[in-house]
Amino acid sequence: MTVHSAAPSLDLLREQIAALLQEPATGHGLARTLRATTKQIEISRYHQASSMAWPNGRIDTTPEKVQIGGGTHRIDGFFNIDAVPPADLLWDIREGIPLHDASVQLMFSEHFLEHIDYPRSVKHYAREAHRVLTDGGELVTGVPDAAFLLRHYPANTELATEMVERWYGKRDCLGDINTFLDLINYAFRDQDDTPNYTPHLWAYDEEKLIQLFAEAGFRTVEPWDFDAEIANPKRQWGSVYVVAKK
Ligand SMILES: C[S@@+](CC[C@H](N)C(=O)[O-])C[C@H]1O[C@@H](n2cnc3c(N)ncnc32)[C@H](O)[C@@H]1O
Repeated sequence: MTVHSAAPSLDLLREQIAALLQEPATGHGLARTLRATTKQIEISRYHQASSMAWPNGRIDTTPEKVQIGGGTHRIDGFFNIDAVPPADLLWDIREGIPLHDASVQLMFSEHFLEHIDYPRSVKHYAREAHRVLTDGGELVTGVPDAAFLLRHYPANTELATEMVERWYGKRDCLGDINTFLDLINYAFRDQDDTPNYTPHLWAYDEEKLIQLFAEAGFRTVEPWDFDAEIANPKRQWGSVYVVAKK
């Protein structure tokens, strides 16, 4: 008689990957993929734990101000949702926004959108944001401004050095940004092979943000006046922010 095993276990998979990563026979390419998988397993475990608490995909509170993907940059008065700690709710936004229809007045994210896959998850996020906002509610989105970078290509040495310092000064990849094109590559597909950083999966400019949120049903999408009470001051330089109104 065949005995069917229990449902595949993320914990078991993680242990097996950890063991494979110790194996000298595991080559560089496989190891990179396994490390990325480990990160996704971590996100899945947090998400599954939250899903068990909120099995219908809606939490029971109705926060009026919400930040998505804030990481360690928490905003006073906002309910913070992120895939990993610290956040008020650990939730993988690619699976939807766990909030009730027409319940949020202000939703904010910066340097988050470029980390989820386009078009599937990005367009799903835009539609979900539209769903959870009240009529007249606002979605503020900031991302690295690809147009800013491309406008300066080829950049003068001073500007290129400033960009590299501001964006990658504390990163292991610093020594490998040797030309301005390397900087452009990093902005478009940041792919540090570390557990600390998730890659950039798509690049944005103002035109793309306007198109994206208009397509999701927002009435207006306009440039947002940077407000350091909400946004992370270190993000202002070289970023583009828009506010989409429902
Ligand atoms: C580059 S950090 C930006 C953090 C902060 N907004 C800032 O500007 O300093 C990207 C953030 O997005 C979060 N994130 C990435 N993918 C996510 C997902 N699928 N669901 C929820 N949060 C996600 C990461 O955990 C991280 O905190």
